Amino acid sequence: MERSLSMELVRVTEAAALESAKWVGKGLKNEADDAATTAMRHVFDTIPMNGTVVIGEGEMDEAPMLYIGEELGTKEGPDIDIAVDPLEGTTIVAEGGWNALTVIAIADRGNLLHAPDMYMDKIAVGPEAKGHVDLDASVTENVKAVAKAKNKSIEEVTVTLLKRDRNQHIIDEVRELGARIKFVENGDVAAAINTCFDYTGVDILFGSGGAPEGVIAAVGIKALGGDFQGRLMPKDAEEEARCKSMGVDPKEKLLLEDLVKGDDAIFAATAVTDGELMKGVQFKGDYVNTSSLVMRAKSGTVRFIEGKHSMKKKPKMVVEDN
Ligand code: FBP
Repeated sequence: MERSLSMELVRVTEAAALESAKWVGKGLKNEADDAATTAMRHVFDTIPMNGTVVIGEGEMDEAPMLYIGEELGTKEGPDIDIAVDPLEGTTIVAEGGWNALTVIAIADRGNLLHAPDMYMDKIAVGPEAKGHVDLDASVTENVKAVAKAKNKSIEEVTVTLLKRDRNQHIIDEVRELGARIKFVENGDVAAAINTCFDYTGVDILFGSGGAPEGVIAAVGIKALGGDFQGRLMPKDAEEEARCKSMGVDPKEKLLLEDLVKGDDAIFAATAVTDGELMKGVQFKGDYVNTSSLVMRAKSGTVRFIEGKHSMKKKPKMVVEDN
């Protein structure tokens, strides 16, 4: 892959963040998502690549844009698989909450797991605990392993997870053990990535969240040198059949290498609302400020990019004739 794609992707996530940020707190999650999707779609076609959406807004008949199988880019350039979550945290934006992102992950053709839209059981840690956790081990064993790897007491380990009834058994076990919990109302891509940055204060992510979000987070974690494992959680025979039709064994523990094959992949995200890692979009009159994170697995380069965008010259962050 061309390394210049990293910066091109940031242009896409920035534009999507700008548009969806206009909907913060308005209680309209579909409108916020549509705004992000439309902006993303628009900028994507200026990028020199032969891209195909493998994780997107849904099947062709249920999504007008960024549907699975849609081709993106100028068609001149490398063959790329694209996983998009135009707005990771539609409810967050609707409710004016924390940690909403616009996010894209790409890899060479065939290297991203084609995750069906269902739940995935997940575990994620940063580089210090890589190689010490196992999705098949108990919550207790994993927390103890992270404590040892990070030279902390169990009471100092902070678990993060989506606050959902289906994750209650994990919450109970962590409380019994005496570790801390940072709950996430929505947005487990940011929560998973946060485990790789010490200053966010979280050490390990557990629990079930969206499978597509799992693959996207895995790309970021691969670039950051952390670890991510997942297992699909089909809720019925129909979802089980869907896994099989997409070539994924629903019982299989998916390791980082199963989710993102090869050594090259790029993750780009722009914050729509404030989070532990980045400031959300800020409207300053003639200018809009954005904060983005872009990282590449091959080089291990991690960049935080602060954008200051002139709304006079590029009202939608796109120069129409370019
Ligand atoms: P949306 O962008 O669709 O609102 O998803 C946000 C999210 O919290 C993801 O981060 C997470 O993986 C998934 O929803 C969890 O799904 P659910 O809300 O059904 O538990």
